[in-house]
Amino acid sequence: MNWNDEKVIAFRKSLIDWYETNKRILPWRENTEAYRIWVSEIMLQQTKVDTVMPYFDRFMEWFPTMKDFADAPEERILKAWEGLGYYSRVRNLQAAMKTVVYEMNGIVPNDLEGILALKGVGPYTAGAVLSIAYEKAEPAVDGNVMRVISRVLEIDEDIMKQKTRKTFEKALYTLIDPDKPGEFNQGLMEIGALVCTPKKPMCLICPLQSFCEAHQKGEEEKYPVKIKKTKVKKVFLSSVIVKQGEEQFIIEQRPDTGLLANLWQFPTVAKTDNQEALKLAFLQEYGIELELEPEPITHVKHIFSHLVWEVDVFVAQAITTQPSDLKLKTVTKAEMEHLAFPVPYQKMWQAFQKGETM
Ligand code: ADE
Ligand code: SF4
Repeated sequence: MNWNDEKVIAFRKSLIDWYETNKRILPWRENTEAYRIWVSEIMLQQTKVDTVMPYFDRFMEWFPTMKDFADAPEERILKAWEGLGYYSRVRNLQAAMKTVVYEMNGIVPNDLEGILALKGVGPYTAGAVLSIAYEKAEPAVDGNVMRVISRVLEIDEDIMKQKTRKTFEKALYTLIDPDKPGEFNQGLMEIGALVCTPKKPMCLICPLQSFCEAHQKGEEEKYPVKIKKTKVKKVFLSSVIVKQGEEQFIIEQRPDTGLLANLWQFPTVAKTDNQEALKLAFLQEYGIELELEPEPITHVKHIFSHLVWEVDVFVAQAITTQPSDLKLKTVTKAEMEHLAFPVPYQKMWQAFQKGETM
């Protein structure tokens, strides 16, 4: 960021002046008691403002103090959250508030380290509570804030990446108004909600327009950059741990290019509809005739970066004598230990050995 002090100060003033005249009247803005800010920010994390409002009011009626909430039975706190979803939020909130009430004299920590140590409090909640309730100059980076700031500063990092939040925090430590950090952060949230919308932002009425680099180029909708995860492809397979005689197993070396090149595996084919089809596939693919045990011994799921394997694992005895296929090898357990098997095959082997010793 190459803004000089004057520009930074002007930015803060535009933002905060706008916020003071345009902010919505919301129940958690009546006063900035840490308890209220904390509860509202947890509620607002995966839920819209309009939905949260009645929940928030009822919550404060039911649990006027942190102690009322900390001492409430689980069925009561779940009832208070009923319909909001992500119920671990309310369980974590209660665990954290028990800590505050019973180990911290009822005082919500006013420093980053202390508040981050509480259950369910991440960097966003920490920054929101510290800035709004305690006027600490800490950024609170959520989706709205990233959208606004990515446009103002043309930040083109993928906002889906965990480490991108750091880039925004760094910029915001420079921008944030040390005298009114709570208003500054809420101003950004409010602009994100009301003006700098995902589609067709209202740049013409935006108090940040003259600072906004994306707007100056007419490229506001290029930001924020959000790289869609390509839906991971699922691959369904059947692997067979093939015993050859009493002591040996038939294994296969993977091709020398591509995924897991040259590693060893139990012979594997595309998943088949039934046992007969699986036997046939083995005969065609490997020239091995199988005496299959009827049920798979386990199912192994393995996630690679771009695909997911779903593998049914069977055990069989080879009826044919020695396989002729070059990529196959017949080995003892001891020999197998010297060869490299990918993790999913290690899981299969563990399941097999567990079954053998039962
Ligand atoms: N979204 C997240 N926090 C908010 C707040 N304090 N006010 C309005 N919307 C929000
Ligand atoms: Fe968003 Fe437009 Fe304002 Fe820039 S000028 S912050 S793009 S609304």
